[in-house]
Amino acid sequence: MSNDFQKKLHEIIRVDHAGEMGAKVIYDGQIAALKLKGEFETAELVAHMKKQEDVHFDYFDAEIKRQKIRPTLMQPVWKIGGFALGFLTALADKKAAMTCTTAVEETIDEHYQSQLATLAKEENLLDENQKKEVRALKEKIQKFRAEELEHRDIGYEHKASELRYFKPLSSFVKATTKFAIAISKKI
Ligand SMILES: [Fe+2]
Ligand SMILES: [Fe+2]
Repeated sequence: MSNDFQKKLHEIIRVDHAGEMGAKVIYDGQIAALKLKGEFETAELVAHMKKQEDVHFDYFDAEIKRQKIRPTLMQPVWKIGGFALGFLTALADKKAAMTCTTAVEETIDEHYQSQLATLAKEENLLDENQKKEVRALKEKIQKFRAEELEHRDIGYEHKASELRYFKPLSSFVKATTKFAIAISKKI
């Protein structure tokens, strides 16, 4: 595997590991606030998504360990920021929590799509063993991406876009998520 491609692969795994951790803590924050407000039904709905994020995270966490990739140094910052984002949106309004979900998941969808395109482009240049490795990663990303889209749909089904400040909150969360992705690739 060329050094450049190896570097790119590690970057993909590092940023996805960070992103899935972010998703986990956002939902943790939402669940905490929803329980505090006695909104147990919504808390349960969010807990279902959180469970899927656990599976996503565990995959990248195992890859980080197996391939001895350094996790992003920003991990502690994303943990606190993600929890706060989830907690505050859910505390403000159920619909704001759902807006946070639609914005994050739409951004992650684009991010996963672009990774899949990168991997597909590079795949042909690899030897058989490396192809196998990349195909396994692609399969996981495809599966996770489908679940992120389910999460996005849940957000819209639960009235995210009816929030009075849907547009500004959505733009803010999307910009924050994109910023976290850009930083986690490099640091
Ligand atoms: Fe995820
Ligand atoms: Fe998700």
